[in-house]
Amino acid sequence: MGATAGMISLREVVDSDLPTFWEHLTDPAAQYVAAVTRGYHYDRTLFDRYWARVRSDPEVVMRTVVADGVPVGHAAVYGPPDEREVTYWIGRTHWGRGFATAALAELLDLVSTRPLHAHAAADNAGSIRVLEKCGFVITGHGRGMGRARGGEIDEVSLILA
Ligand SMILES: CC(C)(COP(=O)(O)OP(=O)(O)OC[C@H]1O[C@@H](n2cnc3c(N)ncnc32)[C@H](O)[C@@H]1OP(=O)(O)O)[C@@H](O)C(=O)NCCC(=O)NCCS
Repeated sequence: MGATAGMISLREVVDSDLPTFWEHLTDPAAQYVAAVTRGYHYDRTLFDRYWARVRSDPEVVMRTVVADGVPVGHAAVYGPPDEREVTYWIGRTHWGRGFATAALAELLDLVSTRPLHAHAAADNAGSIRVLEKCGFVITGHGRGMGRARGGEIDEVSLILA
């Protein structure tokens, strides 16, 4: 277990988490921070399809982040064997309490695959900080589509070796 164990726990996603995740993912302020959003961040049908797919895909390690008995977000490892990637999202009312850092640390204990990759908008300082606190290092800078920003954005790539 990581140093932050105890603050949060990770468990399998259950159906009753989904309305909470829908609130988290459709929050325009959170979408702006994340920058890179997909159809399932806006459309309930695509959202339901996305969660059905990731919950049934054995290649996706998807967990609900629970704090004080409440689902506060989700964290996952996904992607092809040569490009496994982490992602996470904490509901905005729970930001700034160390939950993302604790969740990522727990996820990294759960999943031993290395290297792991991550991408973040270059101005998503909170997410970059979370990744760096968990040992990721910035390995590249590029451009990507940031739908929630209405166009291309600067991105950073990170790796945990
Ligand atoms: C990014 C996100 C996961 C952070 O969640 P969180 O639970 O608030 O993160 P934590 O509290 O564990 O840690 C945040 C760290 O970033 C720092 N931070 C937050 N905003 C910052 C900012 N604007 N500038 C500099 N540092 C910042 C915090 O101070 C903290 O670091 P510290 O512990 O050294 O003080 C959350 O904002 C989120 O879910 N955003 C929407 C989805 C998203 O962006 N996902 C990641 C996609 S790459």
